[in-house]
Amino acid sequence: MEVILLMAMTLDGKIARDSQQLVDWTGKADKKYFVQVTREAGVVIMGSRTFDTIGKPLPGRKNIVMTRNRDRKSQDGNLVFTDRSAGQIIKGLEEEGFEKVTLIGGAIINSLFAGEKLITQIHVTLVPILFGKGLCLFRDLLDVKLELMENREIDKGHLLLVYRVLP
Ligand SMILES: NC(=O)c1ccc[n+]([C@@H]2O[C@H](COP(=O)([O-])OP(=O)(O)OC[C@H]3O[C@@H](n4cnc5c(N)ncnc54)[C@H](OP(=O)(O)O)[C@@H]3O)[C@@H](O)[C@H]2O)c1
Repeated sequence: MEVILLMAMTLDGKIARDSQQLVDWTGKADKKYFVQVTREAGVVIMGSRTFDTIGKPLPGRKNIVMTRNRDRKSQDGNLVFTDRSAGQIIKGLEEEGFEKVTLIGGAIINSLFAGEKLITQIHVTLVPILFGKGLCLFRDLLDVKLELMENREIDKGHLLLVYRVLP
């Protein structure tokens, strides 16, 4: 299973100023790339805080939202709230026939997947902006080596970096 972590990051390595901030600062080209990769995969996995900043499921994709709050339920087949582990989620999606999934944050959920060594690719749009303080790509300590597969300017000063996670 290809598990693609898809994120936008400031030049000082931040993904948000705080847990409530909506990702509305990354530019049109990044949004277009996000839609392309997530639609191709057909599934997005995210943490409940990230989902709450978006406020609704992303259309045309299965949305899996990780939460420990059992009161969170959905009638929409494309919106699933779950307290299953990262590994169990990936196993379930494999059984459903998905070959590629996208992980779309935030820092806490990214760390859960990295901790279980499930991430196979990291696609980061480096945005020419500084936050000074804020959340990083991951919340917890890691030791992961990467290989750069692709880099290109998708918009003026916006660099798309595609890495493969080395075993
Ligand atoms: N720049 C980017 O590309 C990008 C992308 C995505 C998000 N973000 C930003 O990141 C911020 C949110 O990130 P975050 O790290 O604060 O939160 P998050 O990772 O989005 O969500 C964390 C939440 O997930 C749930 N959770 C934690 N551990 C769990 C487990 N083991 N099983 C099930 N659920 C679990 C908990 O929610 P419950 O309390 O519901 O249990 C926890 O509060 C937002 O500002 C968002 O805009 C940026």
